[in-house]
Amino acid sequence: MRRKLVAGNWKMNGSADSIRKLLQGIREGAAEVAAVELAVFPPFVYLGLVEQQLSDAPVAWGTQNLSEQVSGAYTGEVAGSMLLDFHCAYVLVGHSERRTLYGETDDLVARKFAAARKLGIKPVLCLGETLDEREQGVTEAVVARQLKAVLDLEGIGAFADAVIAYEPVWAIGTGRTATAQQAQDVHTFIRAQLVALDPAVAAKTRILYGGSMKAANAGELLSMADIDGGLIGGASLDAKEFLAIAKAGV
Ligand code: 13P
Repeated sequence: MRRKLVAGNWKMNGSADSIRKLLQGIREGAAEVAAVELAVFPPFVYLGLVEQQLSDAPVAWGTQNLSEQVSGAYTGEVAGSMLLDFHCAYVLVGHSERRTLYGETDDLVARKFAAARKLGIKPVLCLGETLDEREQGVTEAVVARQLKAVLDLEGIGAFADAVIAYEPVWAIGTGRTATAQQAQDVHTFIRAQLVALDPAVAAKTRILYGGSMKAANAGELLSMADIDGGLIGGASLDAKEFLAIAKAGV
C-alpha cells in the first residue's frame, strides 16, 4: 500500500512573515491528517526558517531545484550537499516551469535526479505534456520520453523510493484540472512503463498529480487507483486549503 504524499510547491511566492504564518497553520493541522505524508517546497532562501519551524512537526521539506554539479564555479546554483545541510528529504526536478522557462532538457533533468539520489535526497520527477502536445495526441510519447531519460541514466531501481509527479502543463495555474479519469489514464500509462521493467518497484513508486488541485477536486482525484497524492501550487499557499486537500486523501 502506497502512503499518499501531499506536497506544496510554493514556487517563487511568500515572505519570511507569510511563510512563518503558513508553517504555523500547517503545523497546527498536521496531526489530523497523519495518514497522509506532507511536504513543502519553499524558495531556497527560506530553507533555514522552514527547517527551524518544522523540525518537530510531521512534515517533510525540500527545494524546487538543485544543481547537477557537486560544487565549484557555478554562479547562482545550489548544490545538493547544501540541501543536506538543511535536512531536505526531497527535491523537485524537471518541473515544467524549469523545463519551459529555463530550458532544462530531459538530459539535464536526469542528471539532477542522479545528483539528488547520490546524496540520499529523494527526487520528485515532474513530467507532463503541453496543451499542444495533448491536442496532437502525443501525451504518452512525451511522458514516456521524459521518463526514459531518467530510466536510461539511473535504472528502474532508482524509482523504488523516488516520486513522480504528473503535471499536465495546461492544468498548471490555469484553474483547468485534468478530470480524474484523464489523470488516472496517464498515471496508469506511467506505471505501466515501470511495470514492464520491474513490477515490484512499480508497485512502490508514488505518482502524484499536479495541476490546479484544490480541496474541491482533491477527493475525486485522490480516490483514483494510481494517484498517490498531489503536488499543489497555488492552493498550497493557504494552510487551511492545503490541509483540506490532505484530508481528502486520508
Ligand atoms: P497549481 O496547483 O497552481 O496549478 O500548480 C501546480 C504545480 O505546478 C505544482 O508543482
